[in-house]
Amino acid sequence: MNRFRRLRVNSQMRRLVRETHISTDDLIYPIFVAEGENIKNPVPSMPGIYQYSIDMLDEILCEIKKSKIPGVLIFGIPKHKDELASSAYDENGITQQAIRYIKKKYPELLVIADVCLCEYTSHGHCGVVRNDKILNDETLPLLSKMSVSLAKSGADIIAPSDMMDGRVAAIRQALDENGFIDVPIMAYSAKFASAYYSPFRDAADSTPCFGDRKTYQMDCANGKEALREIADDISEGADMVMVKPALAYLDVIKEASRYEFPLAAYNVSGEYSMVKAAAQNGWIDEKRIVMENMIAIKRAGADIIITYHALDVAQWLEEEL
Ligand code: PBG
Ligand code: ZN
Repeated sequence: MNRFRRLRVNSQMRRLVRETHISTDDLIYPIFVAEGENIKNPVPSMPGIYQYSIDMLDEILCEIKKSKIPGVLIFGIPKHKDELASSAYDENGITQQAIRYIKKKYPELLVIADVCLCEYTSHGHCGVVRNDKILNDETLPLLSKMSVSLAKSGADIIAPSDMMDGRVAAIRQALDENGFIDVPIMAYSAKFASAYYSPFRDAADSTPCFGDRKTYQMDCANGKEALREIADDISEGADMVMVKPALAYLDVIKEASRYEFPLAAYNVSGEYSMVKAAAQNGWIDEKRIVMENMIAIKRAGADIIITYHALDVAQWLEEEL
């Protein structure tokens, strides 16, 4: 008989043989920055998450700084939206202003800029729309302009989440031509058309006003195609790749780890909301469930976890020391 239980006998023994560890170093915290003043709006479907105006950001940024989380992912929520997402590449757009503010006051914090048009378009789609179609090639120059503008504002990493084909190459070329050869691209490579994004769309005000995102985001049934997407983004020059969402796609994360590029997993809004809702009802132990989820995402092969739980996880890890 194999006596596996010998190595489970007490917590020190279990520590000694533990295969997977989660560290604050692995975490990225998403923040929503709204245009205006004196704003701290709770997002109803995401308990504990707020939209902040820039003048109110210090509260959360101080917490992040204290937690030693290495970076944040910025989503801007502009007042002005139009067909061509002009606020997305406006030098004085909300996202540009927020990045300049954060980099000036918290220079050591890595700022990752999400690149997509959906928060900035009047129709809420991630690309240029004509005759109810989302146009791929016409969207690329706008994503490139947005990326350059965000890099100019001080973004440390550019993270395209739009799922247009060829955008990594287009963005890489634009960054290089504008002198940003050292700014890396974290590509949302395998981003699935998922119902788990709906709380985010409330938070970022980016629900499409017609149709859905299934003609550009991936079909949730397709694991092999996810690997082709990732390989393609790497060949176009991505420095890091991503699988999104995380928990329903652990098989994809596992397969994706074979590329041996830094691999991020996005533990998305709906995954967060479900845990929070059950915890608020007293149905689950929030801390244990969240830590188990984090370990699962890392065990599958992710190096980086983007999660709304990041501040709590950092706190819990610190308490354990
Ligand atoms: C924008 C974007 C989305 C998310 C990140 N960037 C939403 C979407 O594609 O609809 C989702 C994040 C989350 O659910 O937490 N394209
Ligand atoms: Zn989008």
